[in-house]
Amino acid sequence: MPLHTETSSTPLPPKYLQDDKLTQECEELLPSLPKEKGWVSSYLYQYRGFWHSARQLQGVVACQKHFEAQDSDIFLVTTPKSGTTWLKALLFALVNRMQYSFMEQHPLLMHSPHELVPYLDSKIYVENQTPDLSSFTSPRLFATHLPLVSLPQSVHECPCKIVYLCRDPKDTFVSLWHFANKLRLENMESNSLEDVFDRFCKGVSVYAPFWDHVLGYWKESLENPDKVLFLKYEDLKEKPTSQLKKISDFLGYPFSSEEEASGLLEGIIDLCSFDKLSNLEVNKSGKLSSGEENKAFFRRGEVGDWVKFLNAKMVARLNSITQQKFDASGLKL
Ligand code: A3P
Repeated sequence: MPLHTETSSTPLPPKYLQDDKLTQECEELLPSLPKEKGWVSSYLYQYRGFWHSARQLQGVVACQKHFEAQDSDIFLVTTPKSGTTWLKALLFALVNRMQYSFMEQHPLLMHSPHELVPYLDSKIYVENQTPDLSSFTSPRLFATHLPLVSLPQSVHECPCKIVYLCRDPKDTFVSLWHFANKLRLENMESNSLEDVFDRFCKGVSVYAPFWDHVLGYWKESLENPDKVLFLKYEDLKEKPTSQLKKISDFLGYPFSSEEEASGLLEGIIDLCSFDKLSNLEVNKSGKLSSGEENKAFFRRGEVGDWVKFLNAKMVARLNSITQQKFDASGLKL
């Protein structure tokens, strides 16, 4: 299991949001793509209908070109700020439950979930165009925010599994705004809520448009239910036990009746809870090799926190976009 941690005092945005040190292939691709001002990176580029920073795009293209999925792989796919950190912790604890005691020495007590389940495109392939993945043990867990259209072809072709998690766009936006502000450097112009709200509604933020991202996986989960499990943050909050059982059955790691009777599900849920993870020393003071502080991934972890930040006009606008976009799909967020 490769770990990705180190400390750095260099005042730069995370590596995947930097604009320099691009490959020639990426330098040549960028001028042909639509371009907009970024929230943290200087620019975002539209590739296959979704927006990426320059360095991130380089990871996306390299991963599409070189990544070979294996049958036992598990992909955790989310839109940014939908609860990826939580999903990483839950799936890591779930598939590795025979190996570690939940009481002590569990890797989640000592490492950020982002170290244990790295991002495929925005971490692994941003750092190395042809990474050596041989140290990953089976089942390999990879996270990504890639839209369905940009997943490497081999992911579609082999019977690996995709667990998709999304969240109410109002909470997702508010969480993203806070996160982007944490990543911005002191010398950067600040992001007003109104300005970035407008850009989010227009679909211009990393791995957005939000609605197209969600719809892509929603439709795939209906057409291909053995391949894609579609989950909502709100359901995970409300019914964590039944959702965890659903995930374990879907992945082919069902809980035995003995495991259920011993309280294992509750143990995993407790270990991965917001209160537990956010209060661990590693998540209070550690830093990822990509540059973010671990604590940046834990803010409030609540459903409906948007009420404190969005005015009635903003709520009406977001609700109306969501309704229009999801109208024919049967999906409700
Ligand atoms: P808020 O900003 O609304 O608090 P991601 O992990 O995709 O970056 O999403 C981050 C969001 O998930 C943040 O939401 C964060 O607080 C919340 N989160 C992180 N860990 C969580 C957990 N264990 N349980 C519930 N929510 C969690």
